[in-house]
Amino acid sequence: MSNPMMEEKVFKDPVHKYIYVQDRVIWDLINTKEFQRLRRIRQLGTSFYTFHGAEHSRFSHSLGVYETTRKIISQFERRHDSDWPVDQRLICLCAALLHDVGHGPFSHSIEPVFDVNHEDWTCRIIMGDTEINRVLRQVSDSFPEQVAAIIEKRYQPEIAVSLISSQMDADRMDYLLRDAYFTGVHYGTFDLERILRVMRPYQNKIIIKESGMHAVEDYLMARYQMYWQVYFHPVTRSSEIILRKIFRRAKQLHQSGYTFGFMLPSLQQLLGQSLTIEDYLELDESLIQLAFKQWMKEDDPILRDLCMRFLHRRLFKYKILEQIDQAEIEEVEQNLRDSGLDPDYYMEIDFPADLPYDVYRPGQIGDKPPILILNERGQLIEISRKSDIIRSISGVQLGTHHLYYPEEFLYNQ
Ligand code: NI
Repeated sequence: MSNPMMEEKVFKDPVHKYIYVQDRVIWDLINTKEFQRLRRIRQLGTSFYTFHGAEHSRFSHSLGVYETTRKIISQFERRHDSDWPVDQRLICLCAALLHDVGHGPFSHSIEPVFDVNHEDWTCRIIMGDTEINRVLRQVSDSFPEQVAAIIEKRYQPEIAVSLISSQMDADRMDYLLRDAYFTGVHYGTFDLERILRVMRPYQNKIIIKESGMHAVEDYLMARYQMYWQVYFHPVTRSSEIILRKIFRRAKQLHQSGYTFGFMLPSLQQLLGQSLTIEDYLELDESLIQLAFKQWMKEDDPILRDLCMRFLHRRLFKYKILEQIDQAEIEEVEQNLRDSGLDPDYYMEIDFPADLPYDVYRPGQIGDKPPILILNERGQLIEISRKSDIIRSISGVQLGTHHLYYPEEFLYNQ
């Protein structure tokens, strides 16, 4: 199935040092316009307002997930592990490379407002009339559908899915290291080489050799640290809240028949929730930022003001709520109204556990299997039963509610 290239191609990468491309189809996928679009979408959305280095793109992360998957598989192949189905190599590499191709601009903020889902878009792009689909079809007619099945986690053998989607998969391992590198937060690092050496294919699963338990502890501690230091950072949450409110306002204006001073066809389709694949692929962060810049001149005072706050980083401030006190919240709402501000657009109660990040849970989370250790007697044991450290961080939800509102209002009180 695999069609090797005349000569191996190499990308320089700050996390993996080098990324090696050995298959024609991988090289051709990277060069499609849909994959190149990922250069214009940041991996960490609005985190650059908190950590100015966090400008890395989904393009670099996608290459990193591909490379991590390639390394895992080549370890299996080198050892001739009998539980690894050798014919799954190319499909796993394609799925790893393409797993995030459906991400839109600032996806985590846009998705809840417009009811879109990047995983669905990934499959639509793979199956649709796209350059990616044409490249995949060169392998075989059913190949795009098989790659989509891995992304949707309904592919057999299951081991192919768990390489890119489990509680210790190539996706998470790359984004932790990459996000740590670009934010400059050092807690997020762990020994990837060591983990790759102790991963084994076993009875249609990926498991960890008992001697590798401490390397996995280190990986989960890195997750724990990144979760609290980066992904849940309240300043990042504040910028996401403003972003969501901008989209909600624009959507509401669109529905009420408001005439925008600035509009683009793809943006209009987004607001009206009637996107075609072509429109969707037009959307990137440069386009959104251009729109916000133009919307700072809109007639609507709320849209104008929220866009100004976002682009000039006049973020909402926050107050930690030990408990939800309805009277206190109503008072803040009343104060906002008295200052002429609509609480729907200028206040938000946020709880970080809504985010799509999770440190570790011992059981199956949705379709993500837990991490299993294979002991010398050939028994599989869920890792938190062996490790005190992991048990102490498993399933903990230390989050508190935060109340966000504009800074000037804080001083007016
Ligand atoms: Ni990813």
